[in-house]
Amino acid sequence: MSRKIKWGVIGSGGIARRRTIPEGILKADNAELSVVFDINAQVNAEVAKESGAKDAGSIEALLDADIDAVYIATPAGLHSGQVQTCAKAGKGVLCEKPLGMTVAEAEAMIETCRQKVVKLGCALMMRFVAQHAEALKLIREGRLGKPTYARAQLSCWYPPFEGAWRQDPATGGGGALIDMGGHCVDLLEMFFGKVARVSCFINNTVHDYKSEDSAVATLFFENGALASVDTFFCIPDNSSKNALELYGSKGSILARGTIGQGPAGEMVAFLEQEGKDYDAQQARTEAQGMIIAPEPVNTYQAEIEEFSQAIIEDREPLIGAELGLRNQKILAACYESAKLGKVVEVG
Ligand SMILES: NC(=O)c1ccc[n+]([C@@H]2O[C@H](COP(=O)([O-])OP(=O)(O)OC[C@H]3O[C@@H](n4cnc5c(N)ncnc54)[C@H](O)[C@@H]3O)[C@@H](O)[C@H]2O)c1
Repeated sequence: MSRKIKWGVIGSGGIARRRTIPEGILKADNAELSVVFDINAQVNAEVAKESGAKDAGSIEALLDADIDAVYIATPAGLHSGQVQTCAKAGKGVLCEKPLGMTVAEAEAMIETCRQKVVKLGCALMMRFVAQHAEALKLIREGRLGKPTYARAQLSCWYPPFEGAWRQDPATGGGGALIDMGGHCVDLLEMFFGKVARVSCFINNTVHDYKSEDSAVATLFFENGALASVDTFFCIPDNSSKNALELYGSKGSILARGTIGQGPAGEMVAFLEQEGKDYDAQQARTEAQGMIIAPEPVNTYQAEIEEFSQAIIEDREPLIGAELGLRNQKILAACYESAKLGKVVEVG
């Protein structure tokens, strides 16, 4: 029988319970869930029961179990310490985004994992969205021409409430920008390459908490392309369609709703020249747009299978810590730009 990676989960009660355990670890061909821990013992007991995992009473107990890898889905301010604790116990770690709260934290995690020779991944799972993979293929084939402009949007309604760690930079590293804008920035780098410099505004437009509820960043890529990221905690969920727009000298690829947690959304390409070898499931509208509708991919299953396979094959994970660090560097430059009111080079 082919090998299955044994997983532990720290912070079982949030996105882990909603998505990553049921859709990812329990569905992945090359993974199995062994043990879970959450600071909320009652929630952890429920998750353990519903997923057939052992209920660990502490991180130490979880790390003592017979596991190969740990998925960390706690508030961002806990990532750095917990990743390093797992690495010191010799476990591979898939850390939720963002990879800690700062560049320094991300670097410390990477260094500890390097010293302990364990793999570190960052759960920037929107790279696995099927439409995004098809768009990337078109761009790599040159079908978009020279990249010129992109827009990525991710917004939601996030009102003040007790214990909301994203609403305080001390526990979340920031607000909408680091929490949701990070996905947008990561996708745009996947499509257009490295960002060279940024200009950014942040604000509290509606909600009166410590983290920003509003952010717009302009990105200037090394290849000369431009992009904007708009991300808000103060736009009703149904009002934001999470647009993704990619423009080049030969056309555009336009999507709504593909940036998100579920396999959803629509993508259409308007390309000057269409190659014959493009094989994604597609149809043409009267306006000659090419509908890009590949078989959906569950991004949580994909990220768990990919990281598990990296351990099995003893290779670097596809979405490794370097991408998480890269993301932190761009976000840090955005926050710096917003603070100084100046364009900032990405370090
Ligand atoms: N990629 C995605 O789709 C996605 C979606 C949501 C959240 N996230 C990321 O996942 C992480 C968690 O976000 P969330 O929305 O699930 O948050 P959440 O607050 O809903 O859940 C966090 C869980 O961690 C637990 N926790 C808190 N302190 C702990 C500790 N010291 N030890 C163990 N458990 C502890 C909490 O009790 C809670 O169950 C964040 O990094 C966030 O950015 C990713």
